[in-house]
Amino acid sequence: MRILVTAGPTREPIDPVRVLTNRSSGKMGYAIAGAAQAHGHEVVLVSGPVAIEAPVDVRLVKVETAAEMLTAVQDAFAWCEALVMSAAVADWRPQVSSDQKIKKANGMRHIVLEPTDDILKAVSPHRQGKILVGFAAETEDLVKHAERKLQDKGLDLVVANDVSRDDIGFDSEDNQVTLVSGSQAPEALPLMSKQALGGLIIEWLEQCSASSS
Ligand code: PMT
Repeated sequence: MRILVTAGPTREPIDPVRVLTNRSSGKMGYAIAGAAQAHGHEVVLVSGPVAIEAPVDVRLVKVETAAEMLTAVQDAFAWCEALVMSAAVADWRPQVSSDQKIKKANGMRHIVLEPTDDILKAVSPHRQGKILVGFAAETEDLVKHAERKLQDKGLDLVVANDVSRDDIGFDSEDNQVTLVSGSQAPEALPLMSKQALGGLIIEWLEQCSASSS
């Protein structure tokens, strides 16, 4: 299968030295990309700025902002048979990014934000038989919010994680997720390494692909 994976945070510039970002380390997405490659699939990994190495032989496309990630995903979308969006894409960016460092003496008091484009919503109308997997990073009502994202973003599967916990979610070695799909009751998986979860997500994709062909 040809699998497009996104990983890591995006960084939205406030000025040349300051950014709006989040705590994603890229570990979850890189584990999915590694598992996909270990299963013999072709992989393109679109990644925000992270401090970890990409699996060897994976085609890595480095991006910074949500707008750059949208372009990179759109560029590879026609090629792929499945998209797994594990990146923590910024929902908001500063409306204005200053060309020069904003001086403390000038006393910035407000940053006006504007919404970024939703990448999954942008590509899902053009899916033509592709399998679309999103994540849901939640702090409450995990399954309810994941089911809404499944519908709103037109997905086949949402991998929902509770990001209020320190031992799972952002920048942890392990994750504990609930799989939410349109076809089956939500399935809460046990705590496991992100590598093991990456393998399970790839197996889910393989079964989904086999049952639809
Ligand atoms: O990188 P790690 O440190 O290993 O952490 C892993 C993780 C916590 C980042 C990962 O497991 C995770 O939950 N990723 C999704 C984070 C997120 O942005 O969730 P969300 O509920 O805000 O977004 C829902 C889905 O829409 C996600 O698939 C997201 O990639 C996608 N999205 C979000 C915003 C946007 N503008 N476009 C999108 O496509």
